[in-house]
Amino acid sequence: MNPITDSEFRQFQAFIFDAAGISLAPAKKALVSGRLAKRLRACQLESYGDYFKFLSSDAHRAERQIAIDLLTTNETYFFREPRHFEFLGAIASEARGTAFRAWSAACSSGEEPYSIAMVLADRLAGRPFEVVGTDISTRMLHAAGRAHYPDIRARQMPLDYRKRFCLRGTGEQEGTLLVERGLRQHVRFAQANLIASLPDLGRFDIVFLRNVMIYFDTATKREVVHRVASLLRPDGYLCIGHSESLHDLGVDLIPVSPSIFRKPGRAGH
Ligand SMILES: C[S@@+](CC[C@H](N)C(=O)[O-])C[C@H]1O[C@@H](n2cnc3c(N)ncnc32)[C@H](O)[C@@H]1O
Repeated sequence: MNPITDSEFRQFQAFIFDAAGISLAPAKKALVSGRLAKRLRACQLESYGDYFKFLSSDAHRAERQIAIDLLTTNETYFFREPRHFEFLGAIASEARGTAFRAWSAACSSGEEPYSIAMVLADRLAGRPFEVVGTDISTRMLHAAGRAHYPDIRARQMPLDYRKRFCLRGTGEQEGTLLVERGLRQHVRFAQANLIASLPDLGRFDIVFLRNVMIYFDTATKREVVHRVASLLRPDGYLCIGHSESLHDLGVDLIPVSPSIFRKPGRAGH
């Protein structure tokens, strides 16, 4: 197999930018060639240029999704950035009225939406709720639906949640956990590309948009944050990753903390 050339790398940079809004720096060349190498082998192609032509042809449309899945970074774990879950618990304890709805807008393999569901099941005291998890990667959404994880992803999960909401693997499944069915029934998954028009997801009391904007340029961030914020109910909250910011994005949200924002209520404040 030929090593990736600069011009082939630029083709994949343009591909993933158009498909997912992800800006890949030149330093990511080795990462791109490493992640795609197994597809060149599987498709019996000699060069990255040939693979680019292959996935661009109408006859191999499914290969586009495989390449998108490989070029996204999906690292996640249960109760990542725990302060957002403390905040969620506090607002859930005070929630009244209709079903509480939460959206994990780049949910990867599902640990984030299941963590949200655990907090809501705990703190809503029997009131109805729904969690929606979306991602661009179908491979991750399939993993999310299976709800079966290595224990290492749950190191930050509170122990009582682990006992209440997870089944411990035994025998061949030793070292893994399965999110229990009762909790899974509150969580649904759908594919949604944040840079395209969204499916009808309804309105939300809280949205977690975490650790995905880091891959976007400023114009894409602005577009995505406006699109996501439009699905918040008045007085709904947006949580972003601790290393992300809404600075200069011109979005009408009120900061509650550096990574939590509130949509103005009906009275405009
Ligand atoms: C690092 S994970 C973040 C997971 C989780 N939110 C967290 O904070 O742990 C980033 C996720 O964003 C998804 N992603 C990247 N671009 C996307 C897009 N344009 N639309 C939807 N999801 C996207 C990736 O597939 C990946 O699963």
